[in-house]
Amino acid sequence: MDYLQIEGGTQLHGSIRISGAKNSALPVIAAALLSDVPVEIENLPNVVDIRTLLKLLGILGARVEHADDTARIDASRIESTRAVYEIVAQMRASILVLGPLLSRFGECEVSLPGGCAIGQRPIDLHLKALEQMGAQIEIRSGYVHAIAPEEGLHGAKVIFDKISVGATENTLMAAALAHDRTEIINAAREPEIGQLAQMLTEGGARVEGIGTSRLIVHGTGGEPLRFPDPIRVIPDRIEAGTYLCAAAITHSKITLEDVEIEHIQSIVDKLEGMGCSFSLQGRALTIAAPSSRLKGVNIVTAEYPGFPTDMQAQFMAVATLAEDESLIEERLFENRFMHVSELNRLGADIWLKGNVAAVKPVERLYGADVMATDLRASSALVLAALAAEGTTRVRRIYHLDRGYENLEGKLEALGARIVRKHEA
Ligand code: UD1
Repeated sequence: MDYLQIEGGTQLHGSIRISGAKNSALPVIAAALLSDVPVEIENLPNVVDIRTLLKLLGILGARVEHADDTARIDASRIESTRAVYEIVAQMRASILVLGPLLSRFGECEVSLPGGCAIGQRPIDLHLKALEQMGAQIEIRSGYVHAIAPEEGLHGAKVIFDKISVGATENTLMAAALAHDRTEIINAAREPEIGQLAQMLTEGGARVEGIGTSRLIVHGTGGEPLRFPDPIRVIPDRIEAGTYLCAAAITHSKITLEDVEIEHIQSIVDKLEGMGCSFSLQGRALTIAAPSSRLKGVNIVTAEYPGFPTDMQAQFMAVATLAEDESLIEERLFENRFMHVSELNRLGADIWLKGNVAAVKPVERLYGADVMATDLRASSALVLAALAAEGTTRVRRIYHLDRGYENLEGKLEALGARIVRKHEA
């Protein structure tokens, strides 16, 4: 198994390019199932989750050509509409094929994703929305069996009682080929939703209200979509935020190329509050962290445009070395604090009470062996290791490989002493 070995205490400098957003690329790839002609997707991040979803589409019968950061997906002929357990168990986001398969082919079976390390993560909102559009849904033998009415799904007024990124995406894709209009109330507003809605519109299913929590989709009534131009995946706001935190914790000045500043405003605001300064030139963002200790920070995670739960762990790492106490409250997932005990192994002083972590400042962190537990928790450990005295080995980095393109290569390019090693 691979692990990362990091020698802490080096300042970072220079610039790196931010990759395409994994969480935007996933629904974009799933939406290719809505088309009966090939779809080209550009700026895909080179990460395991993307390869997993492309593999699933291949198993369904789509022809997939994938090279570098581009994929061409031809879903004109699909042989199966069954998303098997073996793939869905590897990646929960596979559930995103449910909406498009159902609306285009009238039936499908998708394995239940089950819980995951950060919480239960049910899919009740996805299923309820599809039922409102006429689908009959049964759960049997660990699979969701969904059947659309003979004439296809119909539009509906879907009111989410909780904001869900995945449920909004599945509903948008199902609505794209439905009859009549679908109104989604309390929709998620993440930039990834904006990209998907824009793509569906370009493909022929007009979406109104993009960027707001009320989306209206004018379905094509069963006509597959056609995408005239390649879809270019937006930059990864969480990857950008992670490198900003890397600069903050190492008191460095670095530049990130290809950043969409609007998407990371809440992250930039928090880092500014901690004492970092920023300058933007076009799509290149430079962060300069002070040489003195950073100020503490108070964070409550929220849906976009609030502070992203996917940045909670990284900020906790930065907060360990601040000059005063920080309070970090997790509001989205019930079990997203597994990095706490690992950060404490590196010398942090973090106390948990329910869904709030009190981060008491320490003078220094010390290198140790630590274990990655989920994707963003893993990057928090890498950040802490960059600032720790001595050597840290971060194990189970397959979590990192799911969502960060070449993390060690990019950090090395910035001057970090980090190397991937293999252990039998
Ligand atoms: C997406 C992101 C993930 C991010 C999360 C929240 C992708 C591939 N993943 O995950 O990185 O952390 O948004 O920003 O884009 N919920 C229900 N019932 C449902 C669906 C969700 O109760 O049917 C709950 C979840 O358990 C969670 C909350 O709603 O507590 C938000 O989850 P959701 O927005 O759906 O997250 P994902 O789409 O799975």
